[in-house]
Amino acid sequence: MERIVILDFGGQYTQLIARRVREAHVYCDILPYHAAPAEVAAGQTRGVILSGGPASIYEEGAPRCAEEVFQLGLPVLGICYGMQLMAHLLRGRVEPAAQREYGRTRLLLLEEGELFAGLAGEGRALVTWMSHGDLVREAPPGFRVLARTENTPVAAMADSERRLFGVQFHPEVVHTEGGREIIANFLFRICGCSGQWTMESFIARSVEEIRERVGGRRAVCALSGGVDSAVAAALVHRAIGDQLTCIFVDHGLLRQGEPEQVEETFRREFKANLIAVQARERFLRRLAGVRDPEAKRKLIGEEFIRVFEEEAGRLGEISFLVQGTTYPDVIESGAGHAAVIKSHHNVGGLPDRMNLELLEPLRYLFKDEVRAVALELGLPEEIVWRQPFPGPGLAIRIIGEVTEERLELLRRIDAIVLEEIRRAGLYRQLWQSFAVLTDLRTVGVMGDGRSYGYTAALRAVTSEDGMTADWARLPYEVLERISNRVMNEVPAVTRLVYDITSKPPATIEWE
Ligand code: XMP
Repeated sequence: MERIVILDFGGQYTQLIARRVREAHVYCDILPYHAAPAEVAAGQTRGVILSGGPASIYEEGAPRCAEEVFQLGLPVLGICYGMQLMAHLLRGRVEPAAQREYGRTRLLLLEEGELFAGLAGEGRALVTWMSHGDLVREAPPGFRVLARTENTPVAAMADSERRLFGVQFHPEVVHTEGGREIIANFLFRICGCSGQWTMESFIARSVEEIRERVGGRRAVCALSGGVDSAVAAALVHRAIGDQLTCIFVDHGLLRQGEPEQVEETFRREFKANLIAVQARERFLRRLAGVRDPEAKRKLIGEEFIRVFEEEAGRLGEISFLVQGTTYPDVIESGAGHAAVIKSHHNVGGLPDRMNLELLEPLRYLFKDEVRAVALELGLPEEIVWRQPFPGPGLAIRIIGEVTEERLELLRRIDAIVLEEIRRAGLYRQLWQSFAVLTDLRTVGVMGDGRSYGYTAALRAVTSEDGMTADWARLPYEVLERISNRVMNEVPAVTRLVYDITSKPPATIEWE
């Protein structure tokens, strides 16, 4: 399969570049900037993109790719830091800018070249998005200057002989006029990509690969109710049918209606082998008296593994464990960090203990691609668009001890929150929206009497990836409706507060 390689210099937009390339139906991989040239050229690589990054090329230890990357005969597009590095390594001149450019910047096109083809020609100005402290003063020998800005003499450059290109601005952000066209020009005109990466083709290829790898052996999968594990299971089920057994551990910490939906989808619609384990009491017993958040997490994780192992143990010979790991979990950042794999994305520790091979059919997909695959496979919208939900579930949204009574309370409040958020058409715009039950009781008046009930909190945040988040500016009317309904329908709660902290400094979850 043809691909583009993106070398990551630690820029904040690296994943966005990858998304844009994939949206143009070209597969791409993000590799760390120091990837070996042979690795960059491996397979059917058609071109290379050098990402932006926070460093200055003159800083000590500034990240550099191997110079051979420019001699592989592959087209290269350098973006921001990527362009400065290209200019520097090929003997152009890079300097600190007297005038830094951030945000919206007018770009004057001097020459269309292949990169700007179709963008209305020379002399045209484009609004671009910039963020740089250094600039290219002189393009390297062999390069022509394609564009400049008021402060940047070389804002785009090209060596059409060697097929090397650089842009100082960010074509991957939506604020850059013509950004999509510039990326498409690079992919199709310059690299000659054919653009056959679609979710249908992905599904067809995955199904074939999974069949080949699994052969006549068997696999298990833990369903959590979330979209990733559901899509992974549905995909593997399409490939190997009854050789897959899905295990759904109902630990009693899910939201209203979720356990039923998992069963409905997998057992009745997909006719998949599904073992639904009713483990509510078991988890509640273990959670009794536990107040510490980390202790809750650990205990739930351990108990989950135990239940899963017991069930899987009854199935006889099993060779594979299916997991919903996705691309953001496996990308090794150009900043040199080891691959970030959040432990909660995996059924921690299972493969080691059970001697299973991992089957991770989504490990090259971004979230939007996972959703597209889900729709293609016929998963219900409620699962496809479900907001992220933590593995330990409602247990970390109940401050203090988790009891059946409190779980029931929280489920009712949470259901009201989600209903109203959906009714207002806000569900998909929010990263997460949910209720928290605190252990704080406050005084209220109800009817003519004094009441003394729980304080609940409403949390709604916007976020790209859960790493940082902002509290959502929910319309007052929505807040009002939620508050009225909670007060009227859940008498044990006498106060509702809205959490207006961002992350950082707060986390999204309260525990
Ligand atoms: P925080 O609270 O750390 O959450 O800002 C960031 C994102 O991760 C989710 N989260 C978890 N997911 N197990 C999980 O599977 C956990 O223990 C856990 N803690 C937080 C949280 O819902 C948010 O989307």
